[in-house]
Amino acid sequence: MSRPVPDAHAWWQRGVVYQVYPRSFQDADGDGIGDLAGILSRLGHLAALGVDAVWISPIQPSPMADFGYDVSDYTGVDPMFGDLAAFDRLVAAAHARGLRVILDFVPNHSSDRHPWFAESRSSRTSPKRDWYVWRDPAPEGGPPNNWLSEFGGPAWTFDAATAQFYYHAYLPEQPDLNWCNPELRAAMLDALRFWLDRGVDGFRVDAIHHLFEDPGLRDNPPNPDWRPGMPPARRVVRARTMDQPEVHDAVAAMRRVADAYPGDRLLIGEAYLPIDRLMLYYGADLSGFQLPFNFHLLSTPWRARDIAALVQRYEAALPPGAWPNWVLGNHDRSRVASRIGAAQARVAAMLLLTLRGTPTIYQGEEIGMQDVPIPPGRVQDPWERNVPGLGLGRDPVRTPMQWDRGPNAGFAPAGAEPWLPLASDHAVRNVAAQEADPRSMLSLHRALLALRRAEPALSVGSHAPVAGAAEDVLAYERRDGATGRRLLVALNLGGEERGLPHAASGSRVLLSTRLDGGAAPRLRPDEGVVLGR
Ligand code: GLC
Repeated sequence: MSRPVPDAHAWWQRGVVYQVYPRSFQDADGDGIGDLAGILSRLGHLAALGVDAVWISPIQPSPMADFGYDVSDYTGVDPMFGDLAAFDRLVAAAHARGLRVILDFVPNHSSDRHPWFAESRSSRTSPKRDWYVWRDPAPEGGPPNNWLSEFGGPAWTFDAATAQFYYHAYLPEQPDLNWCNPELRAAMLDALRFWLDRGVDGFRVDAIHHLFEDPGLRDNPPNPDWRPGMPPARRVVRARTMDQPEVHDAVAAMRRVADAYPGDRLLIGEAYLPIDRLMLYYGADLSGFQLPFNFHLLSTPWRARDIAALVQRYEAALPPGAWPNWVLGNHDRSRVASRIGAAQARVAAMLLLTLRGTPTIYQGEEIGMQDVPIPPGRVQDPWERNVPGLGLGRDPVRTPMQWDRGPNAGFAPAGAEPWLPLASDHAVRNVAAQEADPRSMLSLHRALLALRRAEPALSVGSHAPVAGAAEDVLAYERRDGATGRRLLVALNLGGEERGLPHAASGSRVLLSTRLDGGAAPRLRPDEGVVLGR
């Protein structure tokens, strides 16, 4: 094995991000909801796994209408999760283990209980009126235009006190902030500084594609492709409410704030956009997000040729100097093991951790958690409540982490009732059981992360597709520019045994998803391998 050579890559280029959904990670105080002390007590898991950074979904004070994505104070910690002292302890403990901490930042909207909104709605002449998006009713008295809320219903809510509507891309409890207002913008950038001063290593910036709307308030055009069963918000094409040109200036302002701090602070942007539009979020001369989240693996059919085409399209679209990234799951999307099955989820883990670019792993994916059916009486997600029965609800991917076979799967103390039900498989599928099993999904993740750390080709090397593989085999080469070391990745996305591509001849298996040394020169059903000399 070649020796890693120091190079100019930033920590977040070599590193792997792990997403913690704090409500469901570890409940230390027994209220059935995870907390900061819980995360701190589980840092050992993250260190043993071998990730580099932990991104924590929102922990700020919130009425929890959207489970933290409705912030009522940008510079505090919700008592449910702890307090600022607990946060400081968590950051210190993470840093002591070499783990970076990335917070969620929710700039598009606040909670309707934020004092800013209370002030804004108090009168048309309030100094904070313009911090939100207020408009007169249409001439016939209805909403100003046809814009729709992501979570169902109109995107405008009438406020009788001042006889105007306010705009909300999401729930009425999540009024949109007006980033055209310089004071609002300054206040939000100050919120970033508050956390950067406390030592956070970066932010995952929420729903950035929604930050601006058409100033002329033009209607969104109807969507000719909408069919019953699709989210009601998709009845229109969000041409006037998403991905507006003003957003890039605001992102660059966030980036300047982060860059004023030492130590490569990282900004990751959440934008569900086509590749060509997504690329703009790197910003002119890379003045934007270091990592605009690439969600395209979530929507691409799980077939070798489709994924190979995606990787090539994405790589080719990257602006010069831009760093790629890949995502297989998060707290909003169906879990990978449910989308493609448990066997292929292992192959997907190898794909995620051997593609060129920073990977993000969602909590629970390292043990192969599946979407959990939620009984109607226990539905929490406002999207499912507003638009039931279409499978839009996100509770199934937010169920508690499964740590061991004890009470509440180790997520919460005995006697507590977790806020969402545990998966029925928690007694067998849990961290403790998988730690003891050298072939488990957890062992696979640890082995992949260890190999990635040992082999710069896998973290910072170049990527090239390898031709000549069977139809359902995805193959590519990673090459370390500093040493010239080449590794070949071959993934069998099908259930039949396949040969390895010719390029593999003479190499040995460094890691198989089966964790048994591999059967080269064959690829068994649902097997992925990393090969090298
Ligand atoms: C993002 C979050 C999602 C939230 C929404 C509104 O998409 O990931 O969970 O509901 O923004 O803040």
